[in-house]
Amino acid sequence: MTRVAIIGAGPCGLAQLHAFASDKAADGAEMPELVCYEKQSDWGGLWNYTWRTGLDEHGEPCHGSMYRYLWSNGPKECLEFADYTFEEHFGRPIGSFPPREVLYDYIVGRATRSGIRQYIRFNHAVRNVSRSPETGRFVLSAHNHESDTTSTEEFDCVVVASGHFSTPNMPQYPGYETFGGTLMHAHDFRDAVQFADQNVMIIGSSYSAEDIASQCWKYGARSVVCSSRSGPMGFDWPDGITEKPILSHVDGRTVYFVDGTSAEIDAIVSCTGYLHHFPYMADDLRLVTTNRLASSMLYRGVVFQPDNGVMYLGMQDQWYTFNMFDVQAWYARDVILGRIELPSAEEQARSIAEEQAIEDLIEDDYGLIDYQGAYTQDLLEQSDYPDFNTPLVSAMFKDWKGHKKKSIIGYRDNGHTSPMTGIVAPAHHTDWVDAMDDSLESFLATDS
Ligand SMILES: Cc1cc2nc3c(=O)[nH]c(=O)nc-3n(C[C@H](O)[C@H](O)[C@H](O)COP(=O)(O)OP(=O)(O)OC[C@H]3O[C@@H](n4cnc5c(N)ncnc54)[C@H](O)[C@@H]3O)c2cc1C
Ligand SMILES: NC(=O)c1ccc[n+]([C@@H]2O[C@H](COP(=O)([O-])OP(=O)(O)OC[C@H]3O[C@@H](n4cnc5c(N)ncnc54)[C@H](OP(=O)(O)O)[C@@H]3O)[C@@H](O)[C@H]2O)c1
Repeated sequence: MTRVAIIGAGPCGLAQLHAFASDKAADGAEMPELVCYEKQSDWGGLWNYTWRTGLDEHGEPCHGSMYRYLWSNGPKECLEFADYTFEEHFGRPIGSFPPREVLYDYIVGRATRSGIRQYIRFNHAVRNVSRSPETGRFVLSAHNHESDTTSTEEFDCVVVASGHFSTPNMPQYPGYETFGGTLMHAHDFRDAVQFADQNVMIIGSSYSAEDIASQCWKYGARSVVCSSRSGPMGFDWPDGITEKPILSHVDGRTVYFVDGTSAEIDAIVSCTGYLHHFPYMADDLRLVTTNRLASSMLYRGVVFQPDNGVMYLGMQDQWYTFNMFDVQAWYARDVILGRIELPSAEEQARSIAEEQAIEDLIEDDYGLIDYQGAYTQDLLEQSDYPDFNTPLVSAMFKDWKGHKKKSIIGYRDNGHTSPMTGIVAPAHHTDWVDAMDDSLESFLATDS
């Protein structure tokens, strides 16, 4: 029997297990033997919140990058599973921007119904994956933290689903060595309350920067200054949040920016993104790419071109998330089962280069949204994943961008339309700016 290893039980790993489980239910096809390795003690990936930072309870690099009070930054309608709607899970329509715990509940709800937990070995950290010169199969070793032992097994295919928003990209600026305040990467940010009454500097101009700046303001920071190397985010910020060019250096508690201005700060939160990091993959199996839509080395964004026995899921920069992970998992499943015939290595390399050239010519975010929508649609058409309205999803992303431009603090108060059910989300009972409690109970309460 074909043996498939899946590394990680976050949204991508769970999508892969679910793709196989759904296939079995649909047509009785023989399922390969599945083994999913998850280094944490529970499933959900980044959505499985931890208060820990640094090393986890086993001494592994802590995977979690999420924080208290994190609410979905995109409309939930854009990430909805086509075979498990929000209405089905919650029994009624809910607002478009749920907090982390609510989305975690949704992810886990489908996985539980799918019956896939049995395939997951929790507390197992994958240490090494390579091709055996003797058998030609993949040799995978993993450390079991419960028994404190390492085991090695052979597989025919490996699906890498370990995410790429966990290993911080942490640039250093002169003066950091002697900065007397708090200095951290967004990966270690857990609670904005920590910064109440403080002057905070955020570095970066992407999602973590805009959200952590907003969080710190909402939970009582005295001031927030955002410093960016590629131009301001340009939102209509509330009083208390300002934008500056990139810093040149820090001296004591004073930060100097390249335009010659300066500010007094108590804390620096470096929202400078993450590295694709797969230390457990042998050199010839390791994905090397930047955070972009048309990833390097991946045919159709999934199949590792130098060795088609390895699939990587969710390695793109992400507008689309959960439903794109699903179509990738369905595609990977069908490649593994031999239902999709792959072109030659040369043709795969040509296709990857062509996709990157197309992406490089795209001039704005609207074009990038359409590009990822078309990519998702293309994979959809190659599998039996339930069809959904990708043009509507892309249109919603564009509306959402408009809402953010209008009000970065108020965009989460809008309702969007489910591409699966056509239901328009009701307004949440409390505006985001006033909703201080991010619990599932509070979000699902019928009034504030
Ligand atoms: C701060 C933050 C907020 C986000 N907010 C949103 C949002 O609002 N909406 C949205 O759609 N997306 C959001 N995302 C994007 C997020 O990447 C996806 O939603 C999703 O979690 C990606 O799933 P994944 O399975 O690829 O990776 P992950 O969720 O990172 O899961 C990977 C899993 O692999 C495991 N693993 C790693 N290494 C090993 C190993 N060596 N051995 C065994 N297991 C291993 C990890 O423990 C983890 O469980 C956010 C990301 C971040 C960083
Ligand atoms: N739900 C939520 O509210 C929420 C909150 C946070 C994050 N997220 C998710 O988390 C994921 C990661 O987002 P992210 O913002 O952490 O990463 P990101 O989108 O990759 O952005 C990285 C940022 O770091 C900057 N940067 C990189 N190197 C730098 C350097 N040497 N000096 C200065 N700036 C540098 C980049 O600037 P340049 O543009 O100049 O390269 C960019 O602004 C996304 O999927 C996002 O949706 C969601």
